[in-house]
Amino acid sequence: MQASTVIAKLRRGENPSAEDLRWFAAGLADGRVSDAQGGAFAMGVCLRGLTDEGRVALTLAMRDSGHVMDWDLPGPVADKHSTGGVGDCTSLVLAPALAACGAYVPMISGRGLGHTGGTLDKLDAIPGYATNPDEPRFRKVVADAGCAIVGASAEIAPADRRLYAIRDVTATVQSEELICASILSKKLAAGLDALVLDVKVGSGAFMKTLDDARALSRAMVDTANQAGCRTSVLMTGMDQPLAASLGNALEVDAAMRVLTEGETGPLYDLSVALGAEVLASAGIADGEAKIRAAIADGSAAERFGRMVHGLGGPHDFVEDWRSILPEAPVIREIPALEAGHIAAIDGEALGLAVVALGGGRQVETDKIDPVVGLSEVVRLGDKLEKGQPIARIHAARMEQAEEAEQAVRAAITLGEAPALPDLVRERVA
Ligand code: URA
Repeated sequence: MQASTVIAKLRRGENPSAEDLRWFAAGLADGRVSDAQGGAFAMGVCLRGLTDEGRVALTLAMRDSGHVMDWDLPGPVADKHSTGGVGDCTSLVLAPALAACGAYVPMISGRGLGHTGGTLDKLDAIPGYATNPDEPRFRKVVADAGCAIVGASAEIAPADRRLYAIRDVTATVQSEELICASILSKKLAAGLDALVLDVKVGSGAFMKTLDDARALSRAMVDTANQAGCRTSVLMTGMDQPLAASLGNALEVDAAMRVLTEGETGPLYDLSVALGAEVLASAGIADGEAKIRAAIADGSAAERFGRMVHGLGGPHDFVEDWRSILPEAPVIREIPALEAGHIAAIDGEALGLAVVALGGGRQVETDKIDPVVGLSEVVRLGDKLEKGQPIARIHAARMEQAEEAEQAVRAAITLGEAPALPDLVRERVA
């Protein structure tokens, strides 16, 4: 078989067979498929789509491009994954909170994708943290800390590792089939008993409408359950950043404030909602109360500290994170030019402003700057007087901050107070 044969089928609108997709996923993993061919394949799937059978076949082929893990642990193996948003560092709160509730969380996460942030890029802001440990170390940290957040590797879901990086820079993220196969190949390879998916909908999400989010949710729930993993979805709002901070070190800081300082708000609320959902699927009762208690009594923070140290980070991160996390040399406020309510926020534009500051990649080889981003971003409905800040910019250089200011102003609309939708929109199971 040749990569171009599979790509040509997509171009002609024909359905690649399960065998074609298996060959292509294996080729992504072992290098027989080039980046250019990966990009053409991704664009073909974006433009032509796959059948339901094709979506399931691609997911399983990508799962089987590497090793599928199994576990022998004294608790259920559970996890959460989101379809991607901005200011969303829920995984950093939820993984250790689930571990403190008795679940084991082998969380295989991603890097920034398009305008959205990536959990692994956030963890790279912690000095020494290894997001690509070998499998024995990954297993050891899961067993000892109860959670380990790492990336797809040469051993686990390697086809996604390649295709994810290609999609990030080729405008080929927005595809129900590719998102489903990318997320579930990693999750199914991790050998989970239970999974909750956070399907984002709104201006900062890949799915901008409820109908698109529903279709993706249905596809993922059906695919994962068919593959033997108990899975449900919460569709949640991404009409504005989840937390008021966007950027890698800034989002670790936001998660640490929830884990160690009792900060509440949408990040805390979403962590509790997703945690309760997956603990119920994993057979652990009273999930909501348990997650709240694990955050309040510091046991989630303690698990986070064990995970960070187990993966090479500082032993005192939880006690000393403020002095350990790096900070930007230029920090400046953006004052509102007029008074009014925050009427609309373009989450994608804010995410792209962070990418332009150096917090994400424009080509595969770009190095991420962990310190850049935005903090104290206003929320929908906030009432501002002229001159009050709409956000703070964290930049490496003054000229960057000036460009980011224009982008942030264009992304935030002042006007009438909008209706505020619920954070959790729908549940799909
Ligand atoms: N997260 C992933 O892992 N893959 C996607 O395609 C989108 C979000």
